[in-house]
Amino acid sequence: MKKTLNIGMIGYGFMARTHSNAWRRVGNFFDLDYTPVLKTVCGLDAAEAEAFAQRWGYAKSTTDWHEVVADKEIDLIEICVPNNIHAEIAIAAAQAGKMIICEKPLALDAAQALQMTEAVEAAGLPNLASFNYRRIPAVTLAKQLIDEGRLGKIFHYRANFLQDWTISSDVPQGGMATWRLDAKAAGSGVTGDLLAHCIDLALWQNGAINSVNAMTETFVKERKNVETGKMEPVGIDDACTFFCRFDNGSLGNFESTRYARGHKALFTFEVNGEKASLAWDLHDLHRLAFFDHADGGLTRGWRTIHVTDGEHPYMSHWWVPGLAIGYEHSFVHQAADFVMSLSSGKTVGATFRDAYETQRVCDAVLQSASSGQWVNL
Ligand SMILES: NC(=O)c1ccc[n+]([C@@H]2O[C@H](COP(=O)([O-])OP(=O)(O)OC[C@H]3O[C@@H](n4cnc5c(N)ncnc54)[C@H](O)[C@@H]3O)[C@@H](O)[C@H]2O)c1
Repeated sequence: MKKTLNIGMIGYGFMARTHSNAWRRVGNFFDLDYTPVLKTVCGLDAAEAEAFAQRWGYAKSTTDWHEVVADKEIDLIEICVPNNIHAEIAIAAAQAGKMIICEKPLALDAAQALQMTEAVEAAGLPNLASFNYRRIPAVTLAKQLIDEGRLGKIFHYRANFLQDWTISSDVPQGGMATWRLDAKAAGSGVTGDLLAHCIDLALWQNGAINSVNAMTETFVKERKNVETGKMEPVGIDDACTFFCRFDNGSLGNFESTRYARGHKALFTFEVNGEKASLAWDLHDLHRLAFFDHADGGLTRGWRTIHVTDGEHPYMSHWWVPGLAIGYEHSFVHQAADFVMSLSSGKTVGATFRDAYETQRVCDAVLQSASSGQWVNL
């Protein structure tokens, strides 16, 4: 007899859709000891929350997250709301004894992320930060190849996350559609929103970063605030580039911007080692490029691994070899790994503690950009 896992979803936006979809599908593709049950969804507008509940199969909806956290039947709180309310909800949920999955970035800054981490650790509760890109099979395979030593000593880690949606100065800030441009709601711009993903993967695949040197730019200095109707200074970073040193001796090079005309979500990383290199691109997410120096001879060159075989990470749960899966599946894998960790007792990342480490790097990057100096972590 399976146990139930009653879920309270805070938010009904983009991420709430990816997470709800994952909970609905995960039991069809993975053997789990728990049956996920969509209990309550919560968001700002009552009618929209109820429409979301009907569409995705939640038993009820509410506009008050305190109600969800206080509900004795709920086992797991999913935090899929703007960054400035992650901490309040997570700490209340931890105090109420709930398991938590929180969207990234964990918090507005490292100090807040630490409070959240200490709250879940003090309560001894399973917790996960939703760095979903770890669970795209080609990305997981990259981590496996690095861990197996296939690249040898690592020299370089570089990553980009490029978008172009805020180039127009007519894009406003604040409000529910554009909270990402409001520093009060988002904490930072591309650093917390996009580079946090690159940093999480880099720390996971290549180990700790010990120093950073960054520059940021805010290309549009004033935008209309949707809530006040007035032109107000923009407090977020529109673009950020940083160099860093890893503890393993390798050099890192990271760039993110929302001003790369033509790019919608170009997340790429490349790792160069003594024996081999690998590269990945979100626009072709089921492929991993791999160059092995040991191949030798006239046919040595970059190969593209189509990461769809049953032996590849997660793929035995899906279709037959050769058939690809996509973005949404990273959230299904996240849900599966989280539920399986409840059965096995083994912690899966990114934990809140891992996300705190990412947040420390984000803070150091912003500090370096403002001081113009290297910052040690
Ligand atoms: N893992 C990823 O790749 C990824 C992608 C996008 C967003 N995110 C993160 O997910 C989180 C949510 O982003 P999104 O794109 O889903 O946002 P969104 O704007 O689509 O949705 C935000 C939701 O929060 C709700 N909300 C706001 N204030 C609330 C409150 N006080 N009480 C209850 N509900 C409230 C709104 O009703 C809305 O449903 C952010 O932290 C963001 O950084 C992560």
